[in-house]
Amino acid sequence: MKRLTLVIGLIGLAAAAPSFAQECDLRIEGNDQIQFNTKEMRVSSSCEQVTVTLVHVGKLPANIMGHNWVLTKTEDYMPVAQAGQSAGPPNYVPAGDERVIAATEVVGGGEETSVTFDLSRLEPGGDYTFFCSFPGHFALMNGKFIVE
Ligand code: CO
Repeated sequence: MKRLTLVIGLIGLAAAAPSFAQECDLRIEGNDQIQFNTKEMRVSSSCEQVTVTLVHVGKLPANIMGHNWVLTKTEDYMPVAQAGQSAGPPNYVPAGDERVIAATEVVGGGEETSVTFDLSRLEPGGDYTFFCSFPGHFALMNGKFIVE
């Protein structure tokens, strides 16, 4: 009887574990209409690291409708987006730019990508913006990244 209780207990732990981990794993979608599916992403400051997975749910290829996920302070968002356009393909992110907190590669329809970064660089309550730096997309594809 004791052993059965232990087994049930372990199953309970295993079932509970993923839901804790998921709080630090965020998912966002991009589509063929130059849209992300959210304007706001929230993460707990108790996360040491955050993994953002970008899923391109459209069908168009990366050279026509490429999407990435780039995170900066809000004050850096426009300048970095412009620098990204100058940086050019394949990823439209300025190399070695310290204003870039995190960035994925550019993906096309049916593809996904992810980036994992340290949350220690971000301040709870700070003003952060995520966006797609593919040419012409940053004005439409952006949102607030909130550390609470
Ligand atoms: Co895009």
